[in-house]
Amino acid sequence: MTVARAWSAALVGLDALPVVVEAAMGTGLPGLTVVGLPDAAVRESRERIRSALRQIGLPLPGRSVVINLAPADLPKSGTGFDLAVAMAILAATGDVPAEGLDGLTFAGELALDGEVRPVPGILSIAESSRSHGRLRLVVAPENAAEAAAVPGIEVLPAPHLGAVVAHVAGRELLVPWVAAPSEPEAVTDEPDLGEVRGQALPRRALEIAAAGGHNILLTGPPGSGKTMLARRLPGILPLLSQEEALETTRIWSAAGRLPIGSGLLKVRPFRSPHHGASAPALSGGGSDPRPGELSLAHHGVLFLDELPEFRRDALEALREPLEEGVVRVTRVTGSRSFPARFLLVAAMNPCPCGFRGDPRKACSCSENDVARYRRKVSGPLLDRIDLHVEVPALPASDLTADATPESSRQVRERVLKARARQSSRTGDGRLTNAALAPSRLRATAALHPEAATLLARAMDRLALSARAHQRVVRVARTIADLEGSTITAPPHVAEALRYRSPAASQLT
Ligand SMILES: Nc1ncnc2c1ncn2[C@@H]1O[C@H](COP(=O)(O)OP(=O)(O)OP(=O)(O)O)[C@@H](O)[C@H]1O
Ligand SMILES: [Mg+2]
Repeated sequence: MTVARAWSAALVGLDALPVVVEAAMGTGLPGLTVVGLPDAAVRESRERIRSALRQIGLPLPGRSVVINLAPADLPKSGTGFDLAVAMAILAATGDVPAEGLDGLTFAGELALDGEVRPVPGILSIAESSRSHGRLRLVVAPENAAEAAAVPGIEVLPAPHLGAVVAHVAGRELLVPWVAAPSEPEAVTDEPDLGEVRGQALPRRALEIAAAGGHNILLTGPPGSGKTMLARRLPGILPLLSQEEALETTRIWSAAGRLPIGSGLLKVRPFRSPHHGASAPALSGGGSDPRPGELSLAHHGVLFLDELPEFRRDALEALREPLEEGVVRVTRVTGSRSFPARFLLVAAMNPCPCGFRGDPRKACSCSENDVARYRRKVSGPLLDRIDLHVEVPALPASDLTADATPESSRQVRERVLKARARQSSRTGDGRLTNAALAPSRLRATAALHPEAATLLARAMDRLALSARAHQRVVRVARTIADLEGSTITAPPHVAEALRYRSPAASQLT
């Protein structure tokens, strides 16, 4: 009995593990059996493969064929094994030379007509393939750019099963993917801060958020520009580094959310899940868990509009990622953790009707309504938001004013300088003032004695928690970094305190 082997990979969380597809011809009645912990989608591959093989004129033999996916104890899900299974069968029947499969990894779904279709997780599969010394990867053309983001791999885009057979048989080789030369400056249609008129204070707060990695809450009446401001935060953050782009793309790919034909993501993600979103939609879900919104926002911005309308359990799910930058999802099959380090921008109205404090329209809410509305957001969550900013309704005179507001590019330059000051202190470009461990914070961002006195007085007066105290120190440090000052002085602390709404400590 001949056993033929083709290589593929299974996605487990964000990692891919090699899978060997073994095909053996039996003597029983014609039929195709798949063993080795396949899920329903993998079992259904039999019909696709049968049809695809018929399409290329190499139908299944009139004998039984057994497919084993090894290692057998690793659960296999999805449709990405189709191509490897088809090739293993053809090697077992002698239609392609078995040694032609050496060194190749196959990752693709087959359509009934034999077309090779893209699958999720290609970046992880390419990385795994390389680390196991299999340096050639056969994928759908739509997956080629993504696979090619992994250096040291030869990517062979294959439009059709027939083309793969011709390659392995040595009749007509697949042409390795060559990346198109990248444009000198990536053209993005990111919205620009230059479009936001007035709103000096919220603009300043956005800049501080970007400079120090601080979470921010925007409170204001309908139409005051909260969404507009939030949408412009990614554009003033530093550009994605290569390493960050790889991490974020891996997540998007495993979640099946990477745009078709895309290579590495180039701009920081901006995610704005609806307030009706369930906890699994945010954290990650499914029986074989896939990353959720919190992880799709990794290295980017998570925007929670209408914060008090979010479900309580969904807001609870934010706590761990806000503290540790990861989400853990537990299932009977085991637990997975996905990176989720994002900047949080939350927005809310000041009261249920939205017009409290708005000169244009009277507020119709009772004190009770307002208190109940604000209580929906828990104190511990508000405590983790460093910058609380009011976004007032814009006076008409500001909308028509001549002055041209600063563009995102101008603001980003200051943000980059402030970030450079932080990394020269910490020696780690990814550690912002907001993310620094408390001990490192004390060591690198000591307050000027007068600033410490000022803060101590404010703590008493505003009844701030110990965590709030530390958060104020972090924001003050970022303000000093924006100014280029090595000491954290009283004016920096005073400004930081202004972003710490006294309401935060009352709302527990
Ligand atoms: N500062 C501003 N400069 C220029 N245009 C603005 C400004 N503020 C608001 N606008 C205009 O008003 C529109 C509504 O703003 P936006 O949707 O951001 O308000 P919002 O505060 O998010 O409202 P809601 O509470 O209803 O969600 C924007 O699309 C923009 O056209
Ligand atoms: Mg809005």
